[in-house]
Amino acid sequence: MSSADPVPTTLVLTGATSGIGEAVARLLVPRAARLIVHGPRHPTEVDRFLGRLRDLGRSEVHYVQADFDDLTAVVALAGRIAALTDRVDVLINNAGRPGPPTRQLSDDSNELTLQTNYLAPVLLTDRLAVLLRAAHGRVVHVASATHLSASLDPDDLNMEHTAYSPTVAYARSKLGLVAHAQWLVDQAPSPRVDAVSVHPGVIRTALLHAMFDIGGAPVAQGARNVVQAALSANAWDGRYLAEDRPAQPNPAALDPEFRSRLMTQTSRLTSHLSANDRSSSAGWDGS
Ligand SMILES: NC(=O)c1ccc[n+]([C@@H]2O[C@H](COP(=O)([O-])OP(=O)(O)OC[C@H]3O[C@@H](n4cnc5c(N)ncnc54)[C@H](OP(=O)(O)O)[C@@H]3O)[C@@H](O)[C@H]2O)c1
Repeated sequence: MSSADPVPTTLVLTGATSGIGEAVARLLVPRAARLIVHGPRHPTEVDRFLGRLRDLGRSEVHYVQADFDDLTAVVALAGRIAALTDRVDVLINNAGRPGPPTRQLSDDSNELTLQTNYLAPVLLTDRLAVLLRAAHGRVVHVASATHLSASLDPDDLNMEHTAYSPTVAYARSKLGLVAHAQWLVDQAPSPRVDAVSVHPGVIRTALLHAMFDIGGAPVAQGARNVVQAALSANAWDGRYLAEDRPAQPNPAALDPEFRSRLMTQTSRLTSHLSANDRSSSAGWDGS
């Protein structure tokens, strides 16, 4: 990223309340006219965090709360974002959770890791389609190198017939995100948005600690990789970045038939959400 990179107008960042996201928010404040940060915590719990952010620049900073374990909250989140802005230049889907020790279902009856890490960001992206298209914007999915070893059966997204482990659930959810970034660029009609998925690095955070008994690099390093993916003047065209450079993703993510089956089943798992809940978005198909 160089100082010549454009300064986007409106940036939306999920999972900004801790870890890599919190460090990304700090780096973005001076780079955006309007920064909309999300977290699952009640607004009263993030007062000090927002105060520190506002001290760093002159951007408008807004906080929006939603727990991704509930998909209706994700739809409401898109509505609140639409009330704050008529364009989204960059949407950074950073919020994520480790797989719980045993398979758990959300209130929407989805495997919890899949819902929080894959269905929720895909739904949010879908519901913000009009605002992203208005800005010829970019979607950044914060994925993980664990996706490289995953195998994901689109007909069994909720792991009813797949042996569950926390790391398997997590890696599958991230493979979904990597494939979705490529799908967005290849399938969504014009005006196109750019999309990219990025492995931020092995970074010392609560999430890493919950899943792996390894040390990690400081959050600043992961944040730099995410910000580069978000603000680079390069069009990423759906690519997968391993930290700061393009890398080969899991081959499934490059397979149009896999992506098509994945999106069909993804739509099925979100079809219980009313079309009336579509906030300001008309989706990718203009419907
Ligand atoms: N750390 C690594 O080595 C590593 C490697 C590869 C990929 N990643 C990815 O990087 C992203 C950031 O992770 P991190 O390591 O910074 O973890 P983290 O410190 O645990 O931060 C995760 C963020 O997501 C939020 N979040 C968690 N569950 C949520 C839910 N149900 N609904 C809405 N938001 C929720 C958290 O909120 P709270 O502040 O309330 O906890 C926090 O803001 C994730 O997508 C993760 O998968 C991390």
